[in-house]
Amino acid sequence: MLINNDTIIKDNDPLIREKSIDVSLPLCAEDKETLLQMLKYVDDSTVPEIAEKENLRPAVGISAIQIGIPKKMTAIILKDEEGKKLCEYALVNPKIVSNSVEQTYLESGEGCLSVAEDHEGYVYRSARVKVKAYDALQEKDIEIKAQGYLAVVLQHELDHFKGILFYDRINKANPFHKDPDAQAIE
Ligand code: CO
Repeated sequence: MLINNDTIIKDNDPLIREKSIDVSLPLCAEDKETLLQMLKYVDDSTVPEIAEKENLRPAVGISAIQIGIPKKMTAIILKDEEGKKLCEYALVNPKIVSNSVEQTYLESGEGCLSVAEDHEGYVYRSARVKVKAYDALQEKDIEIKAQGYLAVVLQHELDHFKGILFYDRINKANPFHKDPDAQAIE
C-alpha cells in the first residue's frame, strides 16, 4: 500500500467522517501490515530527504481512516529535535479510560494530514489521558499514561475514529478564546 500526501484521504471526502470499527484480535496479517505501513509513513515523514522524495507531509500520527480503512488503528511517533524517537506506538482499539478535567491546548494550533488548509484557533483537550490499547509493536495490551503533547496527539488520533476533525473543536465565534484554567503547550 502506497501512503503519501496524494493517497491520504482529505476532508473533502465524506469517508473521513466515517466511524471506525473495532479490530479483531489476534491481529490478522493484513491489519498488521497496514498498521506497520502507517507507522513507517510517520517515521519517514519527519526525515526531510525521504519526505521530499516520497511526497510525505510531516506528521506525528496517522489513523487508518485517513488511508480509507475505517478500523480503530493508529500509529504515533514522537521525536526530539535531533530526530531521536521519544515514543512509538502502533495501537489497535485504543480507548481513553480516564481523562483529567484540566485542559490543555497547543499554542500554535493543530494540523492534520487530512486537512490541507490552515484552521487557526485553539483546540482544547484534556491535559492528561489514560489510554488502553493493544500495541502491535510490543505485541501486548498496554496502558499509556499521557500528558502534554502526547495526550493531545492521542486525543486527536482517537477523534478520527469518530469522524471528528480538530477544527470541529475550535470555537467558531472566538477561535482564540483563552481558557484561563487551561495550560498552553508551546
Ligand atoms: Co489528523
